[in-house]
Amino acid sequence: MCGIIGYTGAEEAENIIVDALEVLEYRGYDSAGIAVCEADGGIEVRKCAGRVKDLRSLCQGKRSRGTCGIGHTRWATHGGVSDANAHPHKFENVAVVHNGIIENYRDLIRRYHLEDRLQSQTDSEVAAAVLAHFYNGDPLAAIRKAVLKLKGTFALSILFEDIPGVIFAVRNVSPIVIARAREGSMLASDVTVLGQYAKEYFVLPEFYVAVLKKEDIELYDMSGEAAAPEWLTVNWDVDRSSKGGYPFYMEKEIMEQPQVIKETIMPRIREGIPDLSADGIPDSLLLECKRICLVACGTAMHAGLVGKALMQSLVRIHMDVELASEFMYSDAIVDEETLVIAISQSGETIDTLEAVKHAKKNGARTLAVVNVRGASVARVSDYVIYTNAGPEIAVASTKAYTTQLAVLYLLIGRMAYIRGSFGEKEAREFAKELTRVPDVMQQVLDRREEIHYIARSILNARDVFMIGRGLDYSILLEGSLKLKEISYIHSEAYASGELKHGTIALITEDTPVVAVVTQSKVQSKEFSNIKEVQSRGAGVILFMKETFSLEREAVWDSIFKLPAMEDGFMVMPASAALQLLAYYVSLDKGLDVDKPRNLAKVVTVE
Ligand code: M6R
Repeated sequence: MCGIIGYTGAEEAENIIVDALEVLEYRGYDSAGIAVCEADGGIEVRKCAGRVKDLRSLCQGKRSRGTCGIGHTRWATHGGVSDANAHPHKFENVAVVHNGIIENYRDLIRRYHLEDRLQSQTDSEVAAAVLAHFYNGDPLAAIRKAVLKLKGTFALSILFEDIPGVIFAVRNVSPIVIARAREGSMLASDVTVLGQYAKEYFVLPEFYVAVLKKEDIELYDMSGEAAAPEWLTVNWDVDRSSKGGYPFYMEKEIMEQPQVIKETIMPRIREGIPDLSADGIPDSLLLECKRICLVACGTAMHAGLVGKALMQSLVRIHMDVELASEFMYSDAIVDEETLVIAISQSGETIDTLEAVKHAKKNGARTLAVVNVRGASVARVSDYVIYTNAGPEIAVASTKAYTTQLAVLYLLIGRMAYIRGSFGEKEAREFAKELTRVPDVMQQVLDRREEIHYIARSILNARDVFMIGRGLDYSILLEGSLKLKEISYIHSEAYASGELKHGTIALITEDTPVVAVVTQSKVQSKEFSNIKEVQSRGAGVILFMKETFSLEREAVWDSIFKLPAMEDGFMVMPASAALQLLAYYVSLDKGLDVDKPRNLAKVVTVE
């Protein structure tokens, strides 16, 4: 949450920073601001509630010529959305942008007598004040002393008024990446933006201080010893960071799925069999575990639920799926015999990160499935498999979800093979069906106007129910999250067999019901459940595997026939259809599809 950018170099900083904030806006878009070291001395701060475009207008009135500055786009945690609470925060001669939460800010206010001296309600301004308190001309000493007083998570980018042209950075948990770029040095909260300017970057290690100058970058540990950065190659297709002619990133990212799924799958099938050796995953890891526990949040957790159903049925190993935010407080049973799989698009979701650390403390072996290379979850885990989805900018996750599923299929295929649930023939057939996914998904995407038409029937709904059983229910949990987060329609996914135990009381003729029927073993039960809601007057939109047959007398509001795959793989075409449904509802309601209210792409607060 919150996007951070900094630049010092030969060029004017303002435009570079504001352009970069536009790219980073998916991390938070409540307010934005910039602080620039002015050529004639002093730090000029401009900030406002609203989007980066509002900040741009604000800057146009009074252009800054300085070549060093920091910027921020905010997702409010402490203090409402207002000009005063926007970052940067300047306290005396220190200006700061912050991502994270300073948990002990109240104690710090008391301890340093800040009660009447703060301009905002934020914890971040308190961090600036503590830095100013310790600053007496030695920036490294001030930073060292200040961070020892801060409890919580923070990525801080700092300017000192009497050291123009230099940016300081320090962090705990919340990420900062740093690169040489644009005839100078840059830092950012993630590599998405730096990838446009640099070929190499490094992740600022926790509790190290980076000093960015026009000519070079220095790194110091907490004792003041110089350290060497660990440089990484930017592995980010910059073209995929643009909208490529689509009105919204979400549509572009939905349409990219056949390609990115192919890129995720194909290098991991060798001689017709799933093979994870190039990712450094030893078969022993998959053979020796006695159970699996998957930790993730939101969409990534939904991918985990699909993985659990297939893992248990095909590999016959016990698997739990835990909400990462609950994991540490749920006394989950993890030990040396447990393989903990953490799934995260960003690799920075703090709940997932903390869950991995907790699992490791309990002796579990950990495997991350992450999209962003070098992200924190990947770094703390013992093993990592990267999804090759490329940058996902829209807040609503689409291609990250289906590439996470692709990795889970590969894992399941490999585990079933080496643990003996699959013979060679079955392993090959499984892998072959997986390679059909991109083409089958493309068939759904090619028919997107049919789904656009169907979407119109729920445009004005207040509530939508989504029903199905087994894997269909798992698919719908994700379909329902998609609809609620970008259309603001209240939507619930329900295991349709459960309806009669209470929830059917909410079904009326004004409640559209979306049903997914793709699983042979439960299809007749699912059709019975559909009849139950139809009998209460609900209109039903049906997404059904094309090879299933319909009873002639049934009345449907709409039907979309999904191209057929083996049941276990129907998740893929069905998910594409539900993503499009949510997208078109949001689009036709005239909403900002990519930046739904109250949300941010990367959730770095607990
Ligand atoms: O980056 P992560 O995959 O860890 O993010 C997890 C969730 O925050 C994320 O999937 C969220 O639920 C999306 N907005 C869903 O579209």
